[in-house]
Amino acid sequence: MTHSLPVLPALSRRAVLLGGGAAALSPWLPRARATPAEPKATTLSAAPGRAALLGDDAAETAIWGYDGHVPGPQIRIRQGEALQVVVENRLDQDTTVHWHGIRLPNAMDGVPGLTQAPIRPGERFTYAFAPPDAGTFWYHPHAHSLEQLGRGLAGVLIVEEAEPVPVDRDLVWMLADWRLTRDGRIAAGFGNGMEAAMAGRVGNLVTLNGTIPTGQPVRAGERVRLRLVNAAVARIMALRFEGHHPVVVAVDGQPCDPHEPEGGRLLLGPAMRLDIVVDMQGEAGKRYRVIDDFYDGLSYPLTTLAYESGPPLRAQPPDTPLRLPPNPLPKPDLATAECHELTLEGGMMGGGTMMGMGGMHGMGGGAAWTINGSSMTGDGNAGMPPLFTLRRGRTCVLTIRNRTAWWHPMHIHGFSFRMLSRNGVSVPHRPWSDTVLFAPKDTVECAFVADTPGDWMLHCHVMDHQMAGLMTVLRVA
Ligand code: C2O
Ligand code: CU
Ligand code: CU
Repeated sequence: MTHSLPVLPALSRRAVLLGGGAAALSPWLPRARATPAEPKATTLSAAPGRAALLGDDAAETAIWGYDGHVPGPQIRIRQGEALQVVVENRLDQDTTVHWHGIRLPNAMDGVPGLTQAPIRPGERFTYAFAPPDAGTFWYHPHAHSLEQLGRGLAGVLIVEEAEPVPVDRDLVWMLADWRLTRDGRIAAGFGNGMEAAMAGRVGNLVTLNGTIPTGQPVRAGERVRLRLVNAAVARIMALRFEGHHPVVVAVDGQPCDPHEPEGGRLLLGPAMRLDIVVDMQGEAGKRYRVIDDFYDGLSYPLTTLAYESGPPLRAQPPDTPLRLPPNPLPKPDLATAECHELTLEGGMMGGGTMMGMGGMHGMGGGAAWTINGSSMTGDGNAGMPPLFTLRRGRTCVLTIRNRTAWWHPMHIHGFSFRMLSRNGVSVPHRPWSDTVLFAPKDTVECAFVADTPGDWMLHCHVMDHQMAGLMTVLRVA
C-alpha cells in the first residue's frame, strides 16, 4: 500500500503575500515588570468554532478549539508565577487539558482515569500550578486525543525567563496539520486501523498559527527568537531556512548549548518544540523560503521570510550571547541510577504484515503496538498497572529500543529527559527534552530524576500510535 501525502492545490499555488500592517519594530523589547503575587487566572473553554484555515478568502472550516479558536489563546506567564486555568467543556464528549512539557504536580497533569476524572460535557475543572521552567510549552486534550487534537484543540503556553532575553522580536509558529476534504471540511475517519499501524493520520494542509501561511514579515538586521511548535497529530517536519543560519537555543522548552542544527535541518516530530534565534541578514525586499522536506519526494515550501523594504535595523548581527539562562532541572546521578529498558514493537511491515508479535491477532482492542509486550490503548484509561515503580528522588536511566519500521516521537509526562546516547553514540550537547524522536530501529539512552510522585504517562505522540497501544505508565512513589 502506498502512502501519499497530498498537498492541497491551495497550499502550493497560493501567492505569498506580505501582510499589510506589520507590527512596529523596536530594538530590544523592554519588558521588565514586577512579579505579581497573585496567580495569573484565566479560563479556557473547549468548544466548537469556525476557523479560516484556508485563508481569509476561502470558506471557514468547522473546528473544535479553545475558546472556539485555532490555535487556542496563547498563555504567557513569567517563570515562578502561578497559573490558574478554569477549563469548561462545551463539547459533547469528555475532555481534559494536558500541559505538555510542564513539570507539575501529578493531579494537574490532565490524564483522564489516571490523574483526574474526565471533564464531562458542561462541567469545569480548575488547573493550578507554577511552572518551574521558562520555555515554550503547549496544551492539548488528553481525552479522545486523536480526534480532539485533530479537530484543532491546542494552544501555546509560554513561560518567560525571569529576565527578558535580548532579541528584537519573539515570534511563535504554531504548526498544525489538517486532513481536509475537497470542500474544506475536516475529513472523518479518525482512528483508521491501517493508518494507526503505519505513519498515522498525516494530513494535507499545514497551517501556521491557524491559517495557511502567507509569509512572515521581517526586517533586515533584526534578531528574532522564533518558537517552533509542532502540534500535528502525526506529521513530522524538517524545516530548512533558505539563506539563513538559525541557531537552536532550546529544545522542548529547555535551554541547550546554542548550535546550528545538523545539515541545517530543524527536525520536529509531533509535540516537539525548538526555540531558534535567527539573525535576519537577508536583503531588504526579498523573500526566502522555509522548506519542509521531511518526507522523501514530498518537500513543500511551508512559508517565506518576507523582508520589508526599509533600511536594515543594524548592519551586523548583534554580539549579545545566545545562551538562555538554565532552568532548575534536577541533575541525574548516573552512578546511582536505576536502569530500565523499554522495547517498542508492532506496526505494519512491507507487504501488509504486522511485525514482531505474530500479527494483528495477537493484540485485541485495536492495538497495533506494544511496549515491553503490552498495549495500553486509548487515552491512558486502560486500568493497567504501571510498568515499573521508581523510588522518589532516584535517577532513572531508560534505554528505549525502537524495534519497529516507523518513526516515533516518544513523550514522557512530568519530567524532562537528559539525552545520553543514540545508537551507542553520545548525543552532542546532551540536550533535555520531553519528546524524543526515534527513527526506525533507533536505540536511545536517556536519564531523568524521578522527583515528583504519581503515575506518569509515557507514550508516542503520533496520536494514532498512542491510541493503538504505544503507551505505558511509570509510577514514582
Ligand atoms: Cu502532549 Cu500525553 O501528551
Ligand atoms: Cu505531556
Ligand atoms: Cu509512534
